Amino acid sequence: MRTIPSSIVIGIGKGGSCKTTLATQLSGIWSSEGKRILLADLDVQASATKVVGLDPRAHGDGRHLMDAVMYGDDLVTVPARENLEVVVAGRHTKTLSHHLVTIDNGIDVFAYPFEKLMASGRFDRIVFDLPPSGSSRLADLAMQTGKYLVVPTSSGVDNIDGLRVLAEELETLESDIVLLGVVMMKILASAPRKRVETRAEVADVLAGVADPFQTIIREAGAAYDDSRRAGLFLHEYAEWASTVSVSDQISSRIKIPANLADLAREFYELADEVDDRIALAERLLAEAEAAEAGR
Ligand SMILES: Nc1ncnc2c1ncn2[C@@H]1O[C@H](COP(=O)(O)OP(=O)(O)OP(=O)(O)O)[C@@H](O)[C@H]1O
Ligand SMILES: [Mg+2]
Repeated sequence: MRTIPSSIVIGIGKGGSCKTTLATQLSGIWSSEGKRILLADLDVQASATKVVGLDPRAHGDGRHLMDAVMYGDDLVTVPARENLEVVVAGRHTKTLSHHLVTIDNGIDVFAYPFEKLMASGRFDRIVFDLPPSGSSRLADLAMQTGKYLVVPTSSGVDNIDGLRVLAEELETLESDIVLLGVVMMKILASAPRKRVETRAEVADVLAGVADPFQTIIREAGAAYDDSRRAGLFLHEYAEWASTVSVSDQISSRIKIPANLADLAREFYELADEVDDRIALAERLLAEAEAAEAGR
């Protein structure tokens, strides 16, 4: 099996399960903390590309990855922030996905451009934003070559069946990818006891398959949408909002959602937790390798 070093796949899950939200906000926080991040958008919808403020059509419309995989070109990355570059998706992402269905060495040709970039030392981490499960060959290849996997779920809340389907999918994964955990997204914050119960329920359904992260991302659609309209990551928008006085809010009729700061804090906590689980996984993998070598 081939593994792209330091790659984190955000995936598995139906449309709207918050894959892109998670991939982009984590990338934004990590890059703001000084990690050099490559955010690779593998979805023809190019949602991650747009969330970071890039227009796919102005940046090749998915051509960069297609040319790297199909013609061996160096993979072009587009700067979005300090320490954050993007592999832009778009119209050509679909062409690439179709092409990859027709060839036998898909894993090798997909992984190679990313491995080469990581070998160049320009990045500390690659974050892959996947399209909905089962919709693209690119998603399968990322699952087969990624090192770590983080799975968002918002289905557990009112739909335990959705979680069971997810647990089955995870159990039958044909990949060496290390599942770091499941993130519960869009959970109502107004009922703390219910949150604890929901977490226990999710942990129960996923027992033996995956461990939910401690941090739960609250339901805060308006705060999230405002940050998108402002073209900012949540943590950037929350920082800006903290500089706007109440009198300014009233005089300019800006309404900053009350739960914005909490939502931003939860993403910071989650980013730390993912860091911790990566560190733990690295240690365990190194120990396993050492044990293997000593045999
Ligand atoms: N904390 C939140 N509370 C409520 N809604 C949210 C929150 N965060 C994101 N959303 C909304 O959830 C929706 C789904 O988000 P997202 O695009 O990340 O899903 P996705 O899994 O990437 O979807 P797709 O499979 O189509 O790529 C978006 O409409 C977004 O506005
Ligand atoms: Mg998406």
